[in-house]
Amino acid sequence: MEQPTPLVIDTDPGIDDAVAILLALASPEVDLRLVTTVHGNVDLEQTTENALRVLHLAGRSDVPVAAGARGPLVHPLAERAGHVHGAAGLGGVELPPSPASLDPRPAVVALAELLTSSAQPVTVVAIGPLTNIALLLAVFPEAAERIGRLVVMGGSAGAGGNVTAAAEFNAWADPEAAQAVFSSTVPTVLVGLDVTLPTVLGADGVERFAAAGPLGETAGAILRQYMDHARRTYGTAGVVVHDALAVTEAVVPGTLGTVPRDVVVDTGLGVTRGQTLVDRRQPSGSATAVQVAERVDSAAAVELLVSRLESFAAARG
Ligand code: BDR
Ligand code: CA
Repeated sequence: MEQPTPLVIDTDPGIDDAVAILLALASPEVDLRLVTTVHGNVDLEQTTENALRVLHLAGRSDVPVAAGARGPLVHPLAERAGHVHGAAGLGGVELPPSPASLDPRPAVVALAELLTSSAQPVTVVAIGPLTNIALLLAVFPEAAERIGRLVVMGGSAGAGGNVTAAAEFNAWADPEAAQAVFSSTVPTVLVGLDVTLPTVLGADGVERFAAAGPLGETAGAILRQYMDHARRTYGTAGVVVHDALAVTEAVVPGTLGTVPRDVVVDTGLGVTRGQTLVDRRQPSGSATAVQVAERVDSAAAVELLVSRLESFAAARG
């Protein structure tokens, strides 16, 4: 087998972030070298604590965790997503504290050092607001240029929004940062609501990995609040684990069908703030084009997630 690809996850756990981290750890194609945390679903202290605890749950406290931005680049956030993910971010499940300490470096420094020192190109998966990645571009542009692939969960081309009628949560939570990232030349894949919303993890899938041992049972418990929220809010039976689909694309490139597009983010203060405007008139030939995910085999993506979590949980015993 080829050498695993070095991977960084920039994250705001968050229920689907937790599942996404577990999926990366369950995937032999990648070597998770660093987790950087960002404000988002809950505040930075909580996202950082949650990242440490999820890694500990998986027996991988050796993966360094570095804390990043406390808030968006320009305008403070009016609200977070505790109503979706639970006040502490993990669906009301309290994971045991990790014995590991936080990496003392700021997230952008840890990320820049890893990118600069890695002999192999590094894949970065950003599954929270893009504040840390925008800061990396501004502070360490040479390091940012070394990103092999940036896979972003965020935005929407034609599926509308989830936090407002127009905007997806991660783009809305720091539109200025998203705009900086999508107008950069970093090779970026955008995994938005167009492909995540149809990719629904059903209760049957959750039951499969929940039955595979204590780790799977805990992951299932974390997802239950998310399921309840989806049932109450949308009347749906399953859950959309947005961030796990971005990790799937990072782990198995080509999982999603992408088209190069020009993407701009609405950074105005009106009702469409945070909307991603994806030019779908024709594919873009620009150096700053973003590979926008437009096609997904949802059944295959869900099966990959469930089977990997199932095997990982069974192996952990
Ligand atoms: C995104 O918003 C967050 O609430 C989720 O963790 C995911 O990253 C989906 O819009
Ligand atoms: Ca997230």
